Amino acid sequence: MRVGMLTGGGDCPGLNAVIRAAVRKGVQQYGHEFVGFRDGWRGPLEDDVMTLGVDEVRGILPRGGTILGSSRTNPFAVEGGVQRIRDTLERHGCDALIAIGGEDTLGVASRLADLGVQVVGVPKTIDNDLSGTDFTFGFDTAVNIATEAIDRLHTTAESHHRVLVVEVMGRHAGWIALHSGLAGGANIILIPERPFDIDRVCAQVESRFATHYAPIIVVSEGAVPAEGGDMSLVSGEKDAFGHVRLGGIGDRLASEIEHRTGKEARAVVLGHVQRGGSPSAFDRWLATRFGLHAVTAVHEGDFGTMMALRGTEIARVPLSEGTETLKTVRDDLYEEAEVFFG
Ligand code: F6P
Repeated sequence: MRVGMLTGGGDCPGLNAVIRAAVRKGVQQYGHEFVGFRDGWRGPLEDDVMTLGVDEVRGILPRGGTILGSSRTNPFAVEGGVQRIRDTLERHGCDALIAIGGEDTLGVASRLADLGVQVVGVPKTIDNDLSGTDFTFGFDTAVNIATEAIDRLHTTAESHHRVLVVEVMGRHAGWIALHSGLAGGANIILIPERPFDIDRVCAQVESRFATHYAPIIVVSEGAVPAEGGDMSLVSGEKDAFGHVRLGGIGDRLASEIEHRTGKEARAVVLGHVQRGGSPSAFDRWLATRFGLHAVTAVHEGDFGTMMALRGTEIARVPLSEGTETLKTVRDDLYEEAEVFFG
């Protein structure tokens, strides 16, 4: 069998671990050959391929990013895109495709599967917002990076008696903010699922100072104020899947807090630092197992499925289950964290 592989959407630590595991098992156990498509769906759309064998995957397990490159190309937004993908797969003799991505990349995979393309999905995203799986790889690494940042910010915030607002990624889901905020002992956590009341935030800031501690606020880039408006939009620019580019909530929140409370407030935007560098041990473990199971699903002809972590087991769920609705933070999980607010 010849198997194509691509990585799409925002990159994250662990992509190379999936690629390595799928190639190693596919070649060694099943005698499959692989074709790498560059930059997500752009690869099969524009017939941009690379050799992908055991030599190419040697040494990449701990490396961040993706040797295949990534993009946010949407073949359904391109005239004749689906046919061009079919033609490329046929030209390279690919019987199947492993697509590694988040809601957009796997959303495309799901639609292609419905159209008869033999595709298997592997869920990745630092945002951890894909349904059907307990965790996506990349998330644990991002949470560790954010937690280390929060730990460091506590000490400098205390020295200067100032508020520090830490902006983390999370467009629609506050998983990174919630987990790193809990792990780092944040005093306020603001997430997209729970529009925040700026008066309440300021009251919590003041009560924190009253006990002689400096507040740390962790805010997801997609968090919004309850009174409406959108503090976080930096530009109206949209990607091929219609997402606006976010960022800026941290700065706006800090200046609003400073203005209302008279306390000095600064913002730190972690940005792409959360997506770069070497994957954590957990992410290497999860990504490797996803890769091993994905190539087995291909070998068994179980197409239209996505690998999923359920407890400690790797399961297969329909691609549509992973992509139709986003997995957002439940109220009860957020409320657990509220005990530490203020
Ligand atoms: O999709 C994951 C994500 O990390 C989002 O949280 C964030 O909004 C987005 O990627 C930003 O990605 P980029 O700057 O690469 O477009």
